[in-house]
Amino acid sequence: MTNLFRGFQRNVAPLCLILMGLLLAVGCGPSATTDGTGLIVVGEFASLTGKEANFGQSSHKGTELAVDEINAAGGVLGRKLLLKTEDNQSKPGESATVVRKLINRDGAVAILGEVASGRSLEAAPICQTNKIPMISPSSTNPKVTQVGDYIFRVCFIDPFQGTVMARFARTTLKASKVALLTDVAAPYSMGLADFFKQGFAAAGGTILSEQKFSSGDKDFKAQLTALKSENPEAIFVPCYYNEAALIVRQARELGITVPFFGGDGWEAPELLSIGGKALEGCFYSTHYTSESSIPAVKNFVKKFQDRYKEVPDAMAALGYDSAYVLADAMKRAGSADPTKVREALAATKDFDGVTGKTIMDKDRNATKPAVILAIKNGKFEYVETISP
Ligand code: PHE
Repeated sequence: MTNLFRGFQRNVAPLCLILMGLLLAVGCGPSATTDGTGLIVVGEFASLTGKEANFGQSSHKGTELAVDEINAAGGVLGRKLLLKTEDNQSKPGESATVVRKLINRDGAVAILGEVASGRSLEAAPICQTNKIPMISPSSTNPKVTQVGDYIFRVCFIDPFQGTVMARFARTTLKASKVALLTDVAAPYSMGLADFFKQGFAAAGGTILSEQKFSSGDKDFKAQLTALKSENPEAIFVPCYYNEAALIVRQARELGITVPFFGGDGWEAPELLSIGGKALEGCFYSTHYTSESSIPAVKNFVKKFQDRYKEVPDAMAALGYDSAYVLADAMKRAGSADPTKVREALAATKDFDGVTGKTIMDKDRNATKPAVILAIKNGKFEYVETISP
């Protein structure tokens, strides 16, 4: 027996290992991405867990729905798309790692992601160096696409969003003196704050002061106390939903009653579950409303709700559009070759999606309207759409 086993070890075991290796290579390796056959691997990186899990989960659901629809309709160029999704856990540093894996290990010919500008900024140089097109669904900081000609987005950028909120503060809130509270650790927050300040000053308003914090902070009382002493008529908080909700709650506890308002980073159910009643009468800008009467949007909302039992938010809608914009470019390119897809993406004109038309400008940004939502009776309520 022992000898027999040894014999097995010597002769058969190495064979088994080779076989297993072969199987693994066939099963998990890049699925024929360059020879025009087989699956087309599309990589996606998202914050599926961690601090901004809501962003990644929403965006991923939209992307996944689109890819499944594209495949059900026959795929692209007679080939099916294979969506490979990696979680960056909302952690700095992780996006670079997972995007490298998607490109080098999985053979992704294009990358979809991310929501947060900081994480898109981490991955963009890797995509650019590898000449793999990247489409951010919803990162709005201008620097993201400035990384290079392989980097695209299907949403508006913050010089527009900042101006929209500056005008909103002046005309709808009728504020002439505002203060800001910004997140120094998020490029999104710093950028949007700057564009808002420029827009508000240009509209004849005065910025009283700007207090700062860092992503993950939980106590904002010192900054809020400082802001309160200046008597602002409204307070702009361009940051993500966790901090925004805590800031507004603590402000109310300190007796600050003026409206708070923010940008798209506020968009998440957690804003209301953490912020509660404190958020009543606050506003934020975003990319889309599920309340739209446009048939394509209604159809999307229905399909999304049937599958995920929830109403799609802006990240879901932009994730959905990003996958369709990619498929459209591959079709027009007549190829899944990254360089040809890049060319076709750059030439995207009038692509009709659920967040409006995607027209890539020369800087690879889309120009789309912004939507303003209010928090009323514990719900997000559509206020207005502002076109560029
Ligand atoms: N625009 C934000 C950023 O660039 C991300 C975001 C998009 C958040 C859409 C919510 C909704 O970081």
